[in-house]
Amino acid sequence: MDPLDFAGRAVVVTGGTRGIGASIARAFRAAGADVLVCGRTASGTDAGVVRADVRDPAQAAMLIKTAADRFGRLDVLINNAGGGPEAPAASASPRLHAKVIELNLIAPLHVSQAANAVMREQATGGVILMIGSVSGTRPSPGTAAYGAAKAGLHHLATSLAAEWAPRVRVNSLVVGPVASAVTPELVSRTVPMGRPAAAEEVASACLLLASPLAGYISGASLAVHGGGEWPAYLADLRDTAYRAQK
Ligand SMILES: NC(=O)c1ccc[n+]([C@@H]2O[C@H](COP(=O)([O-])OP(=O)(O)OC[C@H]3O[C@@H](n4cnc5c(N)ncnc54)[C@H](OP(=O)(O)O)[C@@H]3O)[C@@H](O)[C@H]2O)c1
Repeated sequence: MDPLDFAGRAVVVTGGTRGIGASIARAFRAAGADVLVCGRTASGTDAGVVRADVRDPAQAAMLIKTAADRFGRLDVLINNAGGGPEAPAASASPRLHAKVIELNLIAPLHVSQAANAVMREQATGGVILMIGSVSGTRPSPGTAAYGAAKAGLHHLATSLAAEWAPRVRVNSLVVGPVASAVTPELVSRTVPMGRPAAAEEVASACLLLASPLAGYISGASLAVHGGGEWPAYLADLRDTAYRAQK
């Protein structure tokens, strides 16, 4: 049996209406899964999309119930909805800080709680993935609340993995800059792979972690960041090493 065949599996992707989430949804659909995505501004004309603001626990519960009712099961939840505007920590408003932490940390907890309630009743259990960020593993100047929330999200995955094993596996992806959101030239000298990730590469990592190939992987963080970030104080060394390989 092909472990990457998701036929008959039901998947929810939060914030799957555009960006990385849309790529993840496409990848699971291409692998045969039934997929439901949500966004705050979803039109509702597409059968695979529901309008839901995941920061509201009632809407988060409604999203999971819609998927479970429609598909009769729920196998995979991808907590992808997230982000936050750049703002100096010294002057950003308390409201902005609260909203960013709500979206990137509290909302995934709400949606995961609802998903676990369905998954734990299934003999085959389920998988929950958190779309995290390198911003949560190093200082995140300009997006301090976002970085702190993502650090919390990575940690949250480990706690949920411990509480909800063995039926439900919970992992996070520590994602580096993704092509649509950054100018390639900006990261070409910082990221060892020399380019940002393609959204499809984040989606591939989700397929892998959701598949039986990762059946014993829970409470883990998978780095999808092209080798991380070359330390700025070693820039000269990088340039020398880089030239040496040419
Ligand atoms: N882009 C990058 O370089 C990068 C790097 C590392 C990690 N990440 C992470 O990857 C994830 C996706 O990022 P992206 O760049 O693809 O984002 P994006 O293009 O801004 O898309 C965000 C998606 O989430 C939805 N969304 C936002 N707030 C929501 C809410 N409260 N409830 C429900 N849906 C909501 C949006 O739809 P609506 O606006 O209609 O609600 C949209 O579908 C985020 O968690 C982000 O932190 C991104």
